[in-house]
Amino acid sequence: MALKVTLLLVACLLLFTGPAFAATFLEGYLDNGNFEEQPKPTDLKKTVLVGKYALPKWEIVGLVEYISGGPQPGGMFFAVAHGVHAVRLGNEASISQTIKVKPGSLYALTFGASRTCAQEEVLSVIVLPQKGDLPLQTLYSSNGGDTYAWGFIPTSDTVTVKFHNPGVQEDPACGPLLDAVAIKELFPPRPTRYNLAKNPGFEEGPYHLVNSSHGVLLPPQQEDRTSPLPGWMIESLKAVKFIDSKHFNVPFGQAAVELVAGRESAIAQILRTVPNKFYNLTFSVGDAKNGCHGSMMVEAFAAKDTLKVPFKSEGKGRFKTVSFRFKALSIRTRITFFSSFYHTRIDDFGSLCGPVLDQVRVVPVA
Ligand SMILES: *[C@@H]1O[C@H](CO)[C@@H](O)[C@H](O)[C@H]1NC(C)=O
Ligand SMILES: *[C@@H]1O[C@H](CO)[C@@H](O)[C@H](O)[C@H]1NC(C)=O
Repeated sequence: MALKVTLLLVACLLLFTGPAFAATFLEGYLDNGNFEEQPKPTDLKKTVLVGKYALPKWEIVGLVEYISGGPQPGGMFFAVAHGVHAVRLGNEASISQTIKVKPGSLYALTFGASRTCAQEEVLSVIVLPQKGDLPLQTLYSSNGGDTYAWGFIPTSDTVTVKFHNPGVQEDPACGPLLDAVAIKELFPPRPTRYNLAKNPGFEEGPYHLVNSSHGVLLPPQQEDRTSPLPGWMIESLKAVKFIDSKHFNVPFGQAAVELVAGRESAIAQILRTVPNKFYNLTFSVGDAKNGCHGSMMVEAFAAKDTLKVPFKSEGKGRFKTVSFRFKALSIRTRITFFSSFYHTRIDDFGSLCGPVLDQVRVVPVA
């Protein structure tokens, strides 16, 4: 009897959800996503992958090198933060993999990427019809452990995830290094009666690579709908860092954001509001206990109202909660946060850091 009911349920689900039922919840590395499954020796000519299918589970186009982290024959040093192996994309080269997904769902890719020589190296991430160009100019961590996230919403049940180097450098030994690729399906939270802000504690966000202690950089988005941090958009020029409680001190829950690039990176959200009504915006500011010391300041904006929040970081993972009232001027109000100053870690001047933002709450004032 129970079996019959179960079968019936499964049949109904299949009927109503169609092919989407075939895709399972995705969270973790893509197949050979850390590139540790090695090519056959016959598919390698020194470090160059020979043939379209030389890299297990991936398809390659153009000059793609399979490298091991550390000093390289040409005198360069490649840091590989996730595992031992990585790929380097030469001029106009790409690697791709086709995966099963649920059309209409939001996904975030998380990948370790860094430039090898030229300042202006760019990595394109393509999941048609979406495409993002990530400038790799800024090194956020000095030891090559930068990890990025990029979001997309598929329009069919299989998509091809492609990483492409659009650049043409004189030196063919240049081009971005990719050392791990993971994916996670996201569930965009909705505003509630108790909080108009969506994803207010930044709890829903991209996958953290295993053993990655650098957080995940959220690059400025062209499209809010596909933000890897649902509900939020990254504005201006540089990235904001998504941090987890496993490796950082976060004020509440499992995650928060670290404002790592001063005034060059802001995080924002658009709220539905009632014109001329007053709202109370509450949020917490702190430090991630990651060697980021000094006088910090977070600036918050809502409609025409602002609040500057000074915070003195001693790197102890402390935080404070503040609030201010704003008056909505229209049916949509943008709230924005950024750090007034730039900071680097005391133990590592090459690594950008900054104040932590968490637990944003917006409620109408009675
Ligand atoms: C993560 O780190 C632990 C401890 O250093 C190690 O045992 C484990 O193998 C690592 N996992 C991966 C996937 O690298
Ligand atoms: C906003 O709400 C918080 C929490 O209820 C309260 O502690 C705070 O005093 C309020 N702030 C303003 C400016 O109304």
